[in-house]
Amino acid sequence: MEHNRAPQSGIFVEGDRHHGFVEFDVPPPGSDAEALRSVLGGLVTAEDGGPWNAVVSLGPRLARELLGDDVPAGLEDFTGIDGGEGRRAPATQHDLMVWIHGSDSDVVFDGMRNCVGAVGGGARVVGETAGFVYHDSRDLSGFVDGTENPGPAEAPGVALVGDGPGVGGSLVFTQRWVHDFGAIESMPVAEQERVIGRTKPDSVELDPLPPDSHVARMVVADEAGDEIEIYRRSVPYGSPSEAGLYFLAFTDDLGKIDLMLRRMYGLVDGPADRLLEWSTPVSGAHWFAPSVEALA
Ligand code: HEM
Repeated sequence: MEHNRAPQSGIFVEGDRHHGFVEFDVPPPGSDAEALRSVLGGLVTAEDGGPWNAVVSLGPRLARELLGDDVPAGLEDFTGIDGGEGRRAPATQHDLMVWIHGSDSDVVFDGMRNCVGAVGGGARVVGETAGFVYHDSRDLSGFVDGTENPGPAEAPGVALVGDGPGVGGSLVFTQRWVHDFGAIESMPVAEQERVIGRTKPDSVELDPLPPDSHVARMVVADEAGDEIEIYRRSVPYGSPSEAGLYFLAFTDDLGKIDLMLRRMYGLVDGPADRLLEWSTPVSGAHWFAPSVEALA
């Protein structure tokens, strides 16, 4: 990459078992945009931060307010997906999302409190989710999540805007899913495996792959025939009465995620994803995580 914009390093730090997500609404007008930018810049730089990693992501309106034209093409509010038959991916767009991750829940709690204190009273907290790594990086359904995720060498090329406005930053999609454990557990394991398209104990892709499995719906090629990739950092969250997956993905182009979502809902060339039999999204938003320099 021929630019010297550093991405927010927390995007790529893997291995932390504890995670927190705080969403805010930040009222316009941004007369104190400069002050807010410096607060947010402080959250992501090591000298002001704690022993946690913090990634700051801006909703489309706030991104334009703080960064002017330095935002990537295609950054618009998430407007949701209507898959018919009562199947919906709702939009719950807000202005600011901070992802904190660290080695333990106390570290993440301190990070989340620090973040809420720093962002200040002008902003309103509208969502707080505590996430965690479940066993050996499994979704709460028991399936390994992340097997086909790009590795450390490949992830920046997949996640970062490579040139033009917003260079060095990353476009982000979040979606909180609520699992129906009764629906999952009422299926024999072989049937659960057909829903995902991978074996449960060791995450081996099924051959043949059922066309309505999650993996079959999510593997899609671009016009040049290359497989479209995104960088997923989702984690489980919740308590036994309501739990699921906080889906979190980084990309250089939100159109890639939009295509995956439309395939999931059966709106392009093929059936809906059977994952929808098990889990329902209750939030959805687009964000932009600017480079460190753009925030500073
Ligand atoms: C309840 C929500 C979800 C669950 C439990 C879930 C779980 C999984 C699992 C178990 C795998 C297979 C292992 C792996 O390669 O990581 C997988 C793969 C994948 N998922 Fe999801 N997922 C969810 C939502 C989504 C959404 C919303 C998207 C995109 C919009 C997505 C995109 C992908 C992609 C791109 C792959 C890799 C496919 C491949 O290359 O083989 N997932 N997911």
